Amino acid sequence: MKSDSSVVIRPARNVSGALRLPGDKSISHRYAMLGAIANGTSKLENFSTGADCASTLGCLRTLGVNWRKKNGSVEIEGTDLRLRAPASPLDCGNSGSTMRMLSGILAGQDFASDLIGDESLSRRPMSRIIKPLEMMGARFLSTDGGRPPLRVAGGSLKAISYETPVPSAQVKTALLFAGLYAAGETTVRESVRTRDHGEVALRAFGAVVTQQGNESRIVGGQQLRAIDAQIPGDLSSASFFLCAAALFPGSQLAIDSLLMNPTRARLLEVLIGMGVGIAVTQLEEKHGELIGTVQVKGKALTGATISGAHSAELIDEIPVLAAVAPYTANGIEIRDARELRVKESDRIAAVATNLRAMGARVEELEDGLKIPGGQELHGAELDSFGDHRVAMAFAVAALRAKGETRINGSDAAVISYAAFYETLESIVER
Ligand code: S3P
Repeated sequence: MKSDSSVVIRPARNVSGALRLPGDKSISHRYAMLGAIANGTSKLENFSTGADCASTLGCLRTLGVNWRKKNGSVEIEGTDLRLRAPASPLDCGNSGSTMRMLSGILAGQDFASDLIGDESLSRRPMSRIIKPLEMMGARFLSTDGGRPPLRVAGGSLKAISYETPVPSAQVKTALLFAGLYAAGETTVRESVRTRDHGEVALRAFGAVVTQQGNESRIVGGQQLRAIDAQIPGDLSSASFFLCAAALFPGSQLAIDSLLMNPTRARLLEVLIGMGVGIAVTQLEEKHGELIGTVQVKGKALTGATISGAHSAELIDEIPVLAAVAPYTANGIEIRDARELRVKESDRIAAVATNLRAMGARVEELEDGLKIPGGQELHGAELDSFGDHRVAMAFAVAALRAKGETRINGSDAAVISYAAFYETLESIVER
């Protein structure tokens, strides 16, 4: 997401406060899509305020789905599995989740749809969904070797048993959504278990989905029932505030009603491993998702190595961990995170460029980064590279730098968290 916006972040003395965050992006997308094809009207409270989830709602409207925003919640009238042929292209904006997961549902419709996206999304790989959805019986056209824009012609689908070549929850979810429309049982196997919100959401809407190890299965022909749900706070948005607190020994931050799904919560273990004081209380389950209150106490940070399955689990949190790495005692090494190169930006290159601009030593690896600890950074002029997580990660790093930092393209944060800078300012002491 390119824009002329910029923000100046001044160094801080401490972080303290209590927050409650807008709904999780991954869950908001899934509940909106499933609400659109369920029976009855779903009421989704604390829906994500991010532009990505607005892209999903926009596409659903173009597909004939009625929804409205009412007192901070979104009400969606389900269409009982059958959407309406769109009169115009479905604009997914910056959202890979929208394009990939919606394609799973469109594969089961008896019409063709065109999917378009912004400049960043138009560079992202889609063959990871095209290949398995074609095996199920859908037909795709892409003008540029598997990159958007895409045309998907749906039809009658047959179940497949598929092992994803790259661990991806978006791909897994797309196939399980398509599996709802397929004859037989669809199986998705992954080498590393990715976030399971697709499985949990399908169950919340009344479908039977089985999970065993890294394998998820769904039998086609099931109906979905509308739900009334409160979406838990976004754990990936929380990671910026948790890391901001981690930067200041003596800080105290609490975030309540936060998503605590174990397939998303690896960051808490990493922070604990680096010496941060973390307590989780008031755990409860809602619609199969774990929710709780997290309390953070800043202590001196040691360091961490993130590799193997952990890199896939932490994929959205790595930019902020890398941005705070120079301030740790022993540094942070990230490996097996090649996927970062095909996100909203090349996040490995973007993080390395910004860290260097702030005076840090950093080694860029093909699949990660090696960032020594014990470094002092200075304020600098940085770029978001049109990427929300890069913008937010460096707003956090700037809090401990010497002097002011300007982040150009700062508006990119709206992709996942519209009020990010205001919230950050609300917990910062100077
Ligand atoms: C997501 C999965 C991840 C993640 C993205 C959201 C999801 O992408 O990076 O922000 O909601 O399933 P991949 O499936 O490409 O790993």
